[in-house]
Amino acid sequence: MRCKVSILGATGSIGQNTIDLISRDPDSYDVVALTGASNIAQLAHDAIALKADIAVTADETLLEDLRDALRGSDVTAAAGAAAVTECATRPSDWVMSAIVGAAGLAPGLAALEQGTTLALANKESLVCAGALMLEAARRSGSKILPVDSEHSAIFQALIGEDMAAVERIIITASGGAFRDWPLEDLAGATLDQASSHPNWDMGQRITIDSASMFNKAMEVIETREFFGVLPEQIEVIVHPQSLIHALVGFADGALMAHVGPPDMRHAIGFALHHPDRKHLPVDRLDLAAIGQLEFRAPDDERWPALRLARETMQAGGMAGAVFNAAKETALDGFIAGQINFVQMAEVVEDTLAHVCATDGHIAATMTLDTVLQTDHVARKAAQAAIDKRAG
Ligand SMILES: NC(=O)c1ccc[n+]([C@@H]2O[C@H](COP(=O)([O-])OP(=O)(O)OC[C@H]3O[C@@H](n4cnc5c(N)ncnc54)[C@H](OP(=O)(O)O)[C@@H]3O)[C@@H](O)[C@H]2O)c1
Repeated sequence: MRCKVSILGATGSIGQNTIDLISRDPDSYDVVALTGASNIAQLAHDAIALKADIAVTADETLLEDLRDALRGSDVTAAAGAAAVTECATRPSDWVMSAIVGAAGLAPGLAALEQGTTLALANKESLVCAGALMLEAARRSGSKILPVDSEHSAIFQALIGEDMAAVERIIITASGGAFRDWPLEDLAGATLDQASSHPNWDMGQRITIDSASMFNKAMEVIETREFFGVLPEQIEVIVHPQSLIHALVGFADGALMAHVGPPDMRHAIGFALHHPDRKHLPVDRLDLAAIGQLEFRAPDDERWPALRLARETMQAGGMAGAVFNAAKETALDGFIAGQINFVQMAEVVEDTLAHVCATDGHIAATMTLDTVLQTDHVARKAAQAAIDKRAG
């Protein structure tokens, strides 16, 4: 039977890898909707090639460009954040959530409320609103399949296991671009240097987040939300080769590790074919050629993001939404040259302290509206923290 799929964030790194897998097996899939934002040429090209029903850009100012690019095809064009969310609710069997940032929350939630299986790459959804996402899935009976490689690895290690027997979950981190830099050089790291990852080929934002360890910090919070373990059960280990993605430790002392090449098509393909396993076009590891695997304890001074993630989990409530908004705003500030690499963590720390101490938002009941309000308040506070440093 053909599977109806939609891809939110189709023009990005995860979206393009998803399209790569689907394009290899055109008889198995009907593409309902593809969404993007600024990359109209790619969006239109893929929508036409995959015979999608609709292509949506989140940027309303680009609607005419999209219409022009789709002219002569049967693909409908639409634009705006509401149109992205609407297309997530179109009847599909499987939706890939691969928009970057908090903008991915509302469409992913809408797909879950519809009862659709959600392949979740957008880590911000669980960090900002984990309880909301899980409750929506519970109510509609839909499935969330994690696509982040670490969470896909944990999910796979847990198949057939009893959560009561889980002692700990260890997620690995490559350490990113500045793993071996002298600490005193970090403040001078340039955008280009931060945008290059030693192992993974990913979008620019997540690559910079890998260098600062904010990506891993997000994944720690995501792990707590998705697998329901306690913060103290989650460990991070630096593993420069990025071949082991995560390990689960059980009551009998066994550690189950998921090992694979750093290729997101594995986690995407696993979610696409779940519960089956099918052939995937990823490299097979030659363990003898690899020879050795290396592990190191993470350095809190180099990566304060990990401590901030623990403080965020301790604060609870909507601190995750504050953390994410502050992190996204700080990243924008770094990309724009307003703050340096080291100051990103300072901005997040200041924002968490300010919003958690002065606003009732953190304790408000979690709904999509209150999460978005908290996100707004935190972005303003983070921008003020940036301006203080820039000015
Ligand atoms: N890349 C990875 O290997 C990887 C691994 C694990 C998890 N993730 C997570 O997956 C998500 C996507 O990552 P990525 O690396 O694929 O990002 P990316 O390459 O930057 O792609 C982001 C996608 O989101 C679209 N987009 C940007 N702003 C938007 C907005 N305001 N509204 C709607 N769509 C918007 C982009 O459209 P345009 O390109 O057309 O502007 C693009 O399609 C992130 O949450 C990331 O943390 C990524």
